[in-house]
Amino acid sequence: MLTLLAHAKINLTLDVLAKRPDGYHEVEMVMQSISLSDKLSFIRTNNNDSIELSGDLIPQETVQNNLIYRAASAFLKYNGLTDGVKITVKKNIPIATGLAGGSTDAAATLHGLNILLKQNNSILELEQLALKLGSDVPFCLTGGLQLAQGRGEKLTPISPIPNCSLLIVKPPFSLSTPKIYQLYDSMPNQKKIKTQELIAQFSNDCKIETIFPYLLNKLEKPAFTIKPSLQIYKEMLLQAGAAHVMMSGSGPTLFAINKSLEDSITVKEKFLCALKATYKKTLHPQELSPEVFVTTVKPTSHGYDLINS
Ligand code: C5P
Repeated sequence: MLTLLAHAKINLTLDVLAKRPDGYHEVEMVMQSISLSDKLSFIRTNNNDSIELSGDLIPQETVQNNLIYRAASAFLKYNGLTDGVKITVKKNIPIATGLAGGSTDAAATLHGLNILLKQNNSILELEQLALKLGSDVPFCLTGGLQLAQGRGEKLTPISPIPNCSLLIVKPPFSLSTPKIYQLYDSMPNQKKIKTQELIAQFSNDCKIETIFPYLLNKLEKPAFTIKPSLQIYKEMLLQAGAAHVMMSGSGPTLFAINKSLEDSITVKEKFLCALKATYKKTLHPQELSPEVFVTTVKPTSHGYDLINS
């Protein structure tokens, strides 16, 4: 059995440059892997031409739509294999929340089967399979801190991020990525993101607060328009002492960057207290209990950790 950890990501920037003829948007994103991860195990079975996928949050009726299943199917087809495989997943990353929870599982599946079935596909080959599965899957193959351009497939590694701690806030609702991009198209003239200047800061061995003025996600505005409670969470986190707060990907997850673990714990406690005291007219009763957890950036620069093989 082969077991891998697949890591989530956050966006430090998300700049939308143009709409493309294929319906996607040309983007420029600085993304960072984080410690939060799913665990995927792979074994070969005797049932040729069969992909078995099980684990929490994997409804069997729609299993063939799951990104892990689709990644496995694409990998086997590309390599002309008829092997049977069984994949088990333990989910920790919330799905469809801007943290690449599905994309990182798909990327780990490509790596996992490449190792298990001894195919030796190059990272370039895996990246081509990855992009067909989703815009964030190529980044998740390699992870670390990277600039992603194009649809997300043109990747350039960046010097490591300074030490910091993260507080993640996952609201109890989801947002549709296509809808967020669509609404963005009707909201031009946003503040310019200075991506290259941000990248230059990392190579200068800077302190975490040096990068804050450069961090911006252009999809925040449409997401906050659809769900105004995101703006309320953001203000509450800042009032609780968070050093910087922003949305990841197309949302709805928010994250606060703090200088230390202690700071993140303090912000978490104050934020939860403020939520308890919040008058129900400001937030819907359900919105009073988002998932809140402390994590950190992932220091190493590949998308998965091999646990055993
Ligand atoms: O590739 P992914 O499955 O993440 O994209 C979901 C949807 O989000 C796309 O069908 C598209 O509508 C929108 N999208 C986009 N531009 C991107 C990424 C996603 O318009 N760069």
